[in-house]
Amino acid sequence: MSDAVSRFDEGLRSILTELEGGAFEVAKTEQELREINARFVGANGSLTSVLKLMRELPGDQRKPKGQAANEVKQKIEARFSARLDALLREAREADLKAPFDVTLPGRGVLPGRLHPITRVRHELLDIFESLGFEVVDGPEIDLHENCFDRLGFPPDHPATDMQDTFFVDRGKGAGDRGTLLRTHTSTMQIREMSRRPPPLAVVSAGAVYRRDDDATHSPMFHQIEGFLVDEKVTMADLKGVLQRFLERLYGEAIEVRLRPSYFPFVEPGAEVDARRPGGSWMEIGGCGMIHPVVFEHVGYDPTKVSGFAFGMGIDRMAMVKFGVPNIKLLFENDVRFLGGF
Ligand code: PHE
Repeated sequence: MSDAVSRFDEGLRSILTELEGGAFEVAKTEQELREINARFVGANGSLTSVLKLMRELPGDQRKPKGQAANEVKQKIEARFSARLDALLREAREADLKAPFDVTLPGRGVLPGRLHPITRVRHELLDIFESLGFEVVDGPEIDLHENCFDRLGFPPDHPATDMQDTFFVDRGKGAGDRGTLLRTHTSTMQIREMSRRPPPLAVVSAGAVYRRDDDATHSPMFHQIEGFLVDEKVTMADLKGVLQRFLERLYGEAIEVRLRPSYFPFVEPGAEVDARRPGGSWMEIGGCGMIHPVVFEHVGYDPTKVSGFAFGMGIDRMAMVKFGVPNIKLLFENDVRFLGGF
């Protein structure tokens, strides 16, 4: 027998002895098991070295010895995968046997809820709906014309300045005055009146944007706009609606005051203040009789119709209602804050 043949046989025999001796079965972890496997079939493994002897075997020996080596290789694979299965099974069983208290409370799912601003907005819209107003929605990006020009703002009114308004684009000139994030919900007066004839009574609520940023001003905030157009509408109707609305919101005893003020799209114009018994006056919004120039811009005849409009801040009402000290808290979406309502 050639030297190579005896070293080949000896090599296989010692591998078999190791296998029978439980070489794989001692592995306690998958990592350990893979290390043991490498000792046989890895680059420097014992079987690998035996196979390298193949070249030195006499020609007629190669086939039978090759078969013998293959059988050993299959035994290694079988032992490896049997032990791997056993290890995985053991791990799963250990998991199942671990102390498990079925009486422990589960991980609760926190119920969702409406944002305080959304709740106040729904409440306001509900009240106006019950007073006969129709609720509509409008876009937050609108034309310069709908936000300013058609409401009677002079072309270079300070409110239209870049310092005060977020422009989406500045427009190309005369017929194209650009698009912007609406600075108030009064855009809805133009939009709704332009698309249908009077009479109408409409409310709309939503986000508006201004370049304002401090403890009581957020660059994004919310307004509710209401307007009514018919024949012979007077300021008494306006005050009556506001009075009714605030009574529903804050309770019967609320007192309402209109304080003369200026907005380009109303004449006369006023600030709306409200006061609880014994409390101090709180500014709620602006209002007035719709300016004839607005009626002209939407195709209504100012000699035939009259109407009123008002706009109020929703965020401040929510802050008062829920006792929120800083408006920013309403927009940070911190559940530790929002969960408290
Ligand atoms: N749009 C005005 C503002 O944002 C409020 C307002 C609305 C005033 C309707 C009068 C009439 O300040």
